[in-house]
Amino acid sequence: MVNLFGAVGSRLAAMWLSMLSFTAASQHLAQIRRSLAELEASAQELFEAGRLADHLPALGQALEAAERHLTAETSAEGQELFFMVRVLRGTIHQQAAGLDDLAVEDLNAFTLSNPRFWDEYYAGVSGNGQFDWYGTWDTEILWPHGRTTLGSVIRPWLRREDSILMLGCGRSDMSEQMYREGFKNITNADISATLLDSLRQRLAPEMPGMSWRWMNASALPLLTRADVVLEKGTLDALKENPGLFQAAVREAYRVLTSEGLLISVTDSDLELEKLARFSCKAVSGEVLDGKTLHVFICQKLAESWFSTLKSWSRLEL
Ligand SMILES: *[C@@H]1O[C@H](CO)[C@@H](O)[C@H](O)[C@H]1NC(C)=O
Ligand SMILES: *[C@@H]1O[C@H](CO)[C@@H](O)[C@H](O)[C@H]1NC(C)=O
Repeated sequence: MVNLFGAVGSRLAAMWLSMLSFTAASQHLAQIRRSLAELEASAQELFEAGRLADHLPALGQALEAAERHLTAETSAEGQELFFMVRVLRGTIHQQAAGLDDLAVEDLNAFTLSNPRFWDEYYAGVSGNGQFDWYGTWDTEILWPHGRTTLGSVIRPWLRREDSILMLGCGRSDMSEQMYREGFKNITNADISATLLDSLRQRLAPEMPGMSWRWMNASALPLLTRADVVLEKGTLDALKENPGLFQAAVREAYRVLTSEGLLISVTDSDLELEKLARFSCKAVSGEVLDGKTLHVFICQKLAESWFSTLKSWSRLEL
């Protein structure tokens, strides 16, 4: 239980970090952001001490006040912050009172596993701008062997002809960059129909071969198949809800072709091999803002150990 909140904590911390990079950050928003970070840290301490419920009314009021303030904000940073406050309020209520996603929504707040959050989020944040919480293909990262890009770490595991399922594509331009490099068989899946419509409209004309499909990561369409399932932070967003998280890992396993790869870019230690028959290697590096990123390369284990051992030839670093 204790780590569940920690996962959201780090997720929100990641958002705050990315918000820091907006250039036009006003003093006023910077102050709100600092107070929210403090509030979030206190909520986490209270949760770990088992006292979050006692302080729920006060925390809820503080966050609602921040939301009222932020509704008037038109800057990208202000809008981003507005959505993050609603998730923080929703998650605090969920953790304190054991509410499900719908009950949280009744409080006019959200959790990251709620698709309606993402619809509103993508409709509400300004523009079609590309946005990444965890970096994209050409994001520079400091790996143990020196400075490189996220793409350079992932590229050796991919073959041009692989069919790739981008699980929770979000507003990242990862798949666009991969397409331009020759990985053309990409299905972009997300739980926000609003987002998918806008991506399809913008990219379909110039990128035949790429498709955009509404999918629930915890219940993928029956006939989905992929050589590679690639996800950045989608499993992290589901971690608050262990049932959905476990289902999503099992679904990734199910849709992968024999010896296919689940590639996971995350800021936490995912133990995917405990949930399905995967064999994982992890590479960790530091993004330039100091955040640590892990890339897990997990191969779907074949039926017998013999074939598994043979298949490792593809995976040697
Ligand atoms: C993508 O890969 C799938 C599965 O291997 C295949 O059925 C499909 O024809 C491929 N699509 C393209 C555009 O290459
Ligand atoms: C996604 O699938 C899970 C598992 O079947 C289900 O509990 C959840 O409600 C689904 N979410 C949506 C948005 O359909």
